[in-house]
Amino acid sequence: MFKFKQEIINNLVTLVDMTEEEIDQHLSIPPDPKMGDYAFPCFILSKSWKRSPHEISEYMADKIQPGEWIKEAHNAGPYLNFFCNREKLTGETLKDICEHREFFGYLEEGEGENVVIDFSAPNIAKPFGIGHLRSTVIGNSLYRLYKALGYNCIGINHLGDWGTQFGKLIAAYEHWGDEEKLKDDPISYLYELYVQFHKEASENESLEEEGRSCFKNLEWGEEEAVCMWAKFKDLSLKEFRRVYDRLDIKFDAEQGESFYNEMLSPTIKMLEENNIVKESDGALVVDLESYNMPPCLLRKKDGATLYATRDLCAAIYRFEEYNFHKLIYVVGAGQSLHFQQLFKVLELMGFPWADRCVHVPFGLIKFKEGKMSTRMGNLIFLEDVIDKAVSLAREIIEEKNPGLESKEEVAEMVGIGAVIFGDLSNDRVKDIDFDWDKVLDFSGETSPYIQYAHARICSILRKEDAHISPQADFSLLSREEEQSLISYLARFSENIKRAADNYKPSILARYLIDLTREFNYFYHRCPVLTAEKELKEARLLLIDGVRQVLVNGLYLLGIKAPQEM
Ligand code: ARG
Repeated sequence: MFKFKQEIINNLVTLVDMTEEEIDQHLSIPPDPKMGDYAFPCFILSKSWKRSPHEISEYMADKIQPGEWIKEAHNAGPYLNFFCNREKLTGETLKDICEHREFFGYLEEGEGENVVIDFSAPNIAKPFGIGHLRSTVIGNSLYRLYKALGYNCIGINHLGDWGTQFGKLIAAYEHWGDEEKLKDDPISYLYELYVQFHKEASENESLEEEGRSCFKNLEWGEEEAVCMWAKFKDLSLKEFRRVYDRLDIKFDAEQGESFYNEMLSPTIKMLEENNIVKESDGALVVDLESYNMPPCLLRKKDGATLYATRDLCAAIYRFEEYNFHKLIYVVGAGQSLHFQQLFKVLELMGFPWADRCVHVPFGLIKFKEGKMSTRMGNLIFLEDVIDKAVSLAREIIEEKNPGLESKEEVAEMVGIGAVIFGDLSNDRVKDIDFDWDKVLDFSGETSPYIQYAHARICSILRKEDAHISPQADFSLLSREEEQSLISYLARFSENIKRAADNYKPSILARYLIDLTREFNYFYHRCPVLTAEKELKEARLLLIDGVRQVLVNGLYLLGIKAPQEM
């Protein structure tokens, strides 16, 4: 479709006073394919042309020349509708899929450019909670989407591994620590200690002081404190990795907050030399009043640095290291102000790349009351959520397909897929009410629904007499159901790009649901294996194309597609 769209743009750019990008932005997809493949809204010109939209579209329809891709252009009220040369589209799309396979739909626009994605970033010594699920799955999907656009992506796990809480934890461990318990279930135990510290500190003020002094020791590099911290970090990472492995998520760098310790003083010095900071009650801040924001606190009265200070160093370091085209932070909406402040400070420091930093916020995720048991207080562990999803998927598979061979593997793919899709299919800015029955519904708008269609196609293609030949006669695919499927396949790239440009994997998720629905519609009306030979070959090629796009699309969301289920 890109080539077709480009031909439309090339035509329009000679007729209207707009840039190629502006035209591109205005071209929309008509709701009904009968109305064409793209529509240009002529009413946006009526003011400057001093003509009615209808007159303009009539005038333009006359001027558009059919070409390699454009079959015709019609005026339809205020719109100018373009129809694609269907035979060309069918042939090129199916050939393209056969040729590019798992890379079908990928683009090259980002070649030679780096995109840094800061995502997941759980906090050490705390459970990998459900709160970090969204950053993890949205970030991972954006990572894959930007890769598909041709960018070189650098995924960074900015682990929360520094800060006053580690002083508290060290103090707690010194008081009540138990080596055995720590080895047994490190994260739960460390979290327990942390909770105990807070409880006791509310009655015993000296404990807070102890915590602060332990953190100072840590910042000064006192051996025992550093040793303890390193141990906590190590144990936490082991647990986190287990979750990442199951989700099939990898990072290119695991530079947590502590990584920037050495850069703190030079960065603060730079701020001081540029007269950007000021003292306020003994603390060091950047005054942001003229930008309607509270001051950005960089150093506390007692000399301790903060989250924001480390983020400042991280951004500068990342630019020096990666000369990024974009630096994307996938962090909850609760930190929006933090990022606004951070980007403003970078701008005030005179970094011309400050506007290449983007915060991609998202809402909260809530579980239906009573459905999820918790190991600790009201904290939900991500691993428990995954286990629960997999066990529910196992039950469903047991019921639907008891003879399936690799049940365990399939349950893992289906269960995890359901959790990821249950997150990604929602507009990320909204809060999610996570409902187990909904995310695992095989006929709902879920990943099992998509995975099931994929497995069904695989099973057709496994049949003995299902030969796929790229030489099939495409012109036989003339039914409406077939043509509509082809339009969907041809729009895959466009959806990848829209999802990446808007930082919204939900756009791709929506597309995959629509494609699956379209496939089911086709499949109920157009027999494949029982069709006469030539038509069968053409339809096999078509459904193989659908299969490929479903796999590729799910992959870009971070979901696997089992061949049987
Ligand atoms: N660890 C932080 C938290 O849990 C998220 C870090 C996000 N990344 C960043 N560069 N600030 O809230």
